[in-house]
Amino acid sequence: MMTATSIKERSLLGLKDISRDEIQSILNRASYWEAQTDKVIPVLNQKFAVNMFFENSTRTRFSFEMAEKRLGAEVMNFTSASSSVEKGESIYDTVRTLESMGVDVGVIRLKPSGVLQELAERVSIPLVNAGDGNNEHPTQALLDLYTMQKVFGDLNGLTVSIIGDIKHSRVARSDLWALRKFGARVQFCAPVNMQAPELAEYAPYVSMDQALKSDVVMMLRVQLERHHQGLFSSNAQYREHYGLTEERAARLSGHTIIMHPAPVNRNVEIDDAVVECSRSVIFHQMSNGVPIRMAVMERAI
Ligand code: CP
Repeated sequence: MMTATSIKERSLLGLKDISRDEIQSILNRASYWEAQTDKVIPVLNQKFAVNMFFENSTRTRFSFEMAEKRLGAEVMNFTSASSSVEKGESIYDTVRTLESMGVDVGVIRLKPSGVLQELAERVSIPLVNAGDGNNEHPTQALLDLYTMQKVFGDLNGLTVSIIGDIKHSRVARSDLWALRKFGARVQFCAPVNMQAPELAEYAPYVSMDQALKSDVVMMLRVQLERHHQGLFSSNAQYREHYGLTEERAARLSGHTIIMHPAPVNRNVEIDDAVVECSRSVIFHQMSNGVPIRMAVMERAI
């Protein structure tokens, strides 16, 4: 059982500023939760968790809800489309409203980057970041590290290629910050208009051929909704240059695993047949999201 105490310590806003030991303790606790055979162990009995999603989600929202219910918490779900946000209420007033009703912890996904930190400083309940703009998605990176540790054990010296829309990816950022703490070498591969130049000092940009020579190939979703004018005239053209096609997947080393945070654009950044091939751990990542979020919610309350 972890012993974090203050609201700040119990919150999880990102992985950039937390220690390797703290990350490892969450991963260890997730391993404990994964090993439990009882579906519900009510350590959060009498606690109220609210999942506040100001942006769409399937995996993160449902795995938080699953985690909270498996821990016996009372769960409330908030989606902005059916709330007073539609009438112009601010994110801050929404969170304060739920806090004033006695909620114990808030899970929050936000469209903009850079507002979560300030929000967390203004409220009196722990907040867990379920993805904020292109800033961080800490629980996704935790489940990614957990998945990698289950396959490889020690992450020190591992080469991880993250391929695709780095510019808009909070997953790439959280994975980068966390993997560096564990001694893994991260490299990016992306067309110029999907690169984040400010990250180049931490992870080099390499060619697609070079990116395939790694222990982990992590494909990112092309965020079609965020690209108003693309470098590529079609999905087929993107796939040709940056997709993990069947032909490219066949060139990977025998031990290399394929990851993707999902949702997946099949036959754009990754071929349909590759999504569920034997070296793909994409659905294992989704399974691992539940014990990771159990560990994070237990820590938060
Ligand atoms: N990986 C991820 O964050 O998926 P969702 O957007 O469906 O939550």
